[in-house]
Amino acid sequence: MLVPGREILDAADKGGYAVGAFNVHTIEMLAPILEVAEEKKSPVLLQFSHGSLTFIGAEAISVLVTHAARQARVPVAIHLDHGEGFGQIMQGLRHGFTSVMIDASKLPLAENIALTKQVVEAAHAVGVSVEAEIGRVGGTEENITVNEWEAALSDPAEAEELVAQTGVDSLAPAFGTAHGFYKGEPKLDLDRLAEVNRRVSVPLVMHGGSGVPDHMVREAIRRGVAKVNVATELKDAWSRAVRDTIQAKPNEIDPRKLLGPAREAVKAIVRTKIDMVGSAGRA
Ligand code: 13P
Repeated sequence: MLVPGREILDAADKGGYAVGAFNVHTIEMLAPILEVAEEKKSPVLLQFSHGSLTFIGAEAISVLVTHAARQARVPVAIHLDHGEGFGQIMQGLRHGFTSVMIDASKLPLAENIALTKQVVEAAHAVGVSVEAEIGRVGGTEENITVNEWEAALSDPAEAEELVAQTGVDSLAPAFGTAHGFYKGEPKLDLDRLAEVNRRVSVPLVMHGGSGVPDHMVREAIRRGVAKVNVATELKDAWSRAVRDTIQAKPNEIDPRKLLGPAREAVKAIVRTKIDMVGSAGRA
């Protein structure tokens, strides 16, 4: 069933577990994610960056993905990942998303609050949940110095102010995770995460979930994380499987046979992540 993101996140927050938010890069990734969510009886978020929304097509998402989510036997939210600006948010609202992220984290606090508030007003008017970000989640920034690393992390007092002033449904604080693969173990500031959690009542979101060791993710869940974003590991598994299959079967021209193993690769990652975050059996 298709539900607002908030419904899934609030239940996770109360239940002391998290849910996986899996980035869908191509439409072929949709079925394997939903199949595993049903197999594991787990709620799930399907998330689309604006790039994926453009690649797959907003109309295709509004018809195909919303249909698949409605048919699913588990709660499913369709989430816009890193929406930048009001225009992208409007596109999400228009095309059936039940959750949107407004990423105004690059702006000064007052502007982040103003834009996030505007998005909350529009989204809540049509029953759609909103995720905001504060601080900077790293990209490939592992080489930055400690001072720079600390400067990029969320200030708990600012996090509290943003949530109080905007009425946002969930918050992605920066506490050391980064998008993409890590060089070595990620360095997380879990005390800062706990402090943010103490100051705000909404569920917290972990960006950059790929490659974070299970024990760190579980500790982050104990400290308030209710949504764990996974993109890179899915892309990696999917692309490796496609490449290996094409190399192993250079004369195969049936796309279904070339893409079949990639589905299985996506399923394997989704299974391990659902087990890691503890959402199995929670649907
Ligand atoms: P990864 O690519 O590191 O898994 O991060 C995903 C994410 O946070 C999407 O917003």
